[in-house]
Amino acid sequence: MSQKSIQNELEYTKHVVSERLCYYEPPKNKLQKTFVEELSSSLNQKQKSIHPKFFYDKKGSELFEEICKLPEYYLTRTEINILTQLYEKLPPHLNGDFRLVELGSGSAKKTRIFISILERLQKHVEYFPIDVSNILKDSSKKLRDDYENLRVTGIIDSYESGLNFLKHYDHGNNLIIFLGSSFGNFSYENGLIFLQKINSSMKKSDLFLIGLDLVKDKTVLERAYNDSQDVTAKFNLNVLSRINSELDSDFNIRKFAHHAIYNENQNRVEIYLRSLENQTVNISKADMTLRIKQDELIHTENSCKFTIPKIKEMLSTTGFQIRDIWYDEKQHYCLVLFSKND
Ligand code: AVI
Repeated sequence: MSQKSIQNELEYTKHVVSERLCYYEPPKNKLQKTFVEELSSSLNQKQKSIHPKFFYDKKGSELFEEICKLPEYYLTRTEINILTQLYEKLPPHLNGDFRLVELGSGSAKKTRIFISILERLQKHVEYFPIDVSNILKDSSKKLRDDYENLRVTGIIDSYESGLNFLKHYDHGNNLIIFLGSSFGNFSYENGLIFLQKINSSMKKSDLFLIGLDLVKDKTVLERAYNDSQDVTAKFNLNVLSRINSELDSDFNIRKFAHHAIYNENQNRVEIYLRSLENQTVNISKADMTLRIKQDELIHTENSCKFTIPKIKEMLSTTGFQIRDIWYDEKQHYCLVLFSKND
């Protein structure tokens, strides 16, 4: 069943799947630039680039799941370890009932930790995943079936718009989680813009929990992004296969190599596709012919690593106050709980 719902001047359509599961969708034309438009522009720059959001087609999402299980990729494992501390440490921060809001549809394991924490504290739990992708429809069904007292309301939209929608939804308290160090994939400037937007769409009583990867030894970082099984390389190269199939292009995957290095001045792992020879690539749907030189790099991702002083500075300049910070034993990773300034 579908019905229109006017929220915040934007017309979202509400789809009711069952009594405890529904999702909201914005009008289709709200979609920003298309894949073709973005690529035509980013591959035409002096430093060619492909935005990392394009990694996540079906194959790319599967490869990312594999990355999360790699021995070298300590991020996921470490974050889950810290999350298990929250059974004890989060409840003192929760004054009254909270609804769980997740940016990204999330890995089931992490989401379940929060549902279990809230289940112990309140009669009913509401879960609002926000994601531009339809993936949230499947993960939400599974969660609804596994928890009797859970109500799931998905919002298929960008994080900022989804949170803005929620601001006008009701007066309930939101516990917003943004895990996996996904924030690290923003540039520093875009990260600040993101935090400012988040601040303006949060209520005073809301809490935000973010997972961030910390600056550490270069060898540990470079190993995490150059794994011995080459899964990260496949993940990176897959974006070219995606362009081939969706935009009718002729990238020869064997003529590119995965390249990931830690830039110590910028505190970020930089990921590129390196051309193994001089070559020409046609992208039919973009009406474009690309000339790529041997050893030329196409930038595909930055993964920023943070220091605690930097995190404090970013949050205070964007109008937040830190409530708590939790780490793993090696201080490789942290979870930061914050709210809007009084
Ligand atoms: C999704 N994001 C936080 C990952 C990261 O570590 O920056 C993406 C990734 N890229 C290569 N490996 C993992």
